[in-house]
Amino acid sequence: MTEPSDQAPFAGRVVVITGGARGQGRSHAAELARLGADVAVCDLCHDVASVGYPLATEDDLAETARLVADQGRRCVSSVVDVRDLDAMVAFVDEVRTELGSVDILVANAGVSALGSICTMDASEWSETIDINLTGVFNAMRAAAPHMRRQRWGRMIGISSMMGRSANPGIPAYVASKWGVIGLCKSVALELAGFGVTVNAIAPGNISTPMIHNDALYALMRPDLDHPTREDVAPAMAGLHAQPVPWIEPEEITAAVVFLASEGARHITGSVIDVDAGASARFTA
Ligand SMILES: NC(=O)c1ccc[n+]([C@@H]2O[C@H](COP(=O)([O-])OP(=O)(O)OC[C@H]3O[C@@H](n4cnc5c(N)ncnc54)[C@H](O)[C@@H]3O)[C@@H](O)[C@H]2O)c1
Repeated sequence: MTEPSDQAPFAGRVVVITGGARGQGRSHAAELARLGADVAVCDLCHDVASVGYPLATEDDLAETARLVADQGRRCVSSVVDVRDLDAMVAFVDEVRTELGSVDILVANAGVSALGSICTMDASEWSETIDINLTGVFNAMRAAAPHMRRQRWGRMIGISSMMGRSANPGIPAYVASKWGVIGLCKSVALELAGFGVTVNAIAPGNISTPMIHNDALYALMRPDLDHPTREDVAPAMAGLHAQPVPWIEPEEITAAVVFLASEGARHITGSVIDVDAGASARFTA
């Protein structure tokens, strides 16, 4: 096993990232590989009916795997739906066989489906809850027994500033992201005696396809027929405190790297807000 060093602090560690084909998940994969980790990424790689923008593709997943390989690290990549617990367990088993362990989990897969409480049907509600909340449970359920047995692990659930506040028109998303924080805190307490930390990150607006799409632009600027990126920027900045409409994925990666590090070993059950100050408006 490669020993950790200043240049490769995660050498010898294996990270599993759900929803890793693009966006924030890809950024986490590339950076953790640069820092020495072997990486396993999974993604759905097809679209979901209630989601008004395209999800990642198998080509996207292959590109993430290429970025990891470019760093000279091993990569396992697979099409897996986080809604399927058996598939998540099988993926984690495959990762342990191929890469030797599962040390760090970034439960990142998610969708943002819009809809009114007056018109949303049951399947629209369920798709978001099943992916964003049950999907995090499934990933943790698959990884937790191994982390507990090896008495070392890092689990990071990706919530949202909408997991600590709310916006109209996205009730299932908001509910799912509040749920992720509760799930992380409960699992943190259960595994506190086993060397496993469990934390959530609550990003603000992050510059990925999840926000740069016509459906979200229309939610942000209902007064315009076909709002553009420039049209929505002021409204997006209004969700933050600092005057920036969106933040780059690499800034979420920096928080992931910190929570996965040795230095964060006594941080568990916490939420790190990376949201340009939005959380300053929340309760303590
Ligand atoms: N972009 C933002 O503004 C923002 C803000 C706060 C939180 N988040 C959260 O960050 C996480 C990453 O989102 P992103 O911004 O990179 O968006 P993204 O759409 O680029 O990435 C999400 C990934 O999850 C995958 N995915 C969706 N359903 C899946 C399923 N059932 N199984 C496996 N993979 C699935 C998608 O294919 C996609 O690759 C999500 O949990 C999202 O809710 C995003």
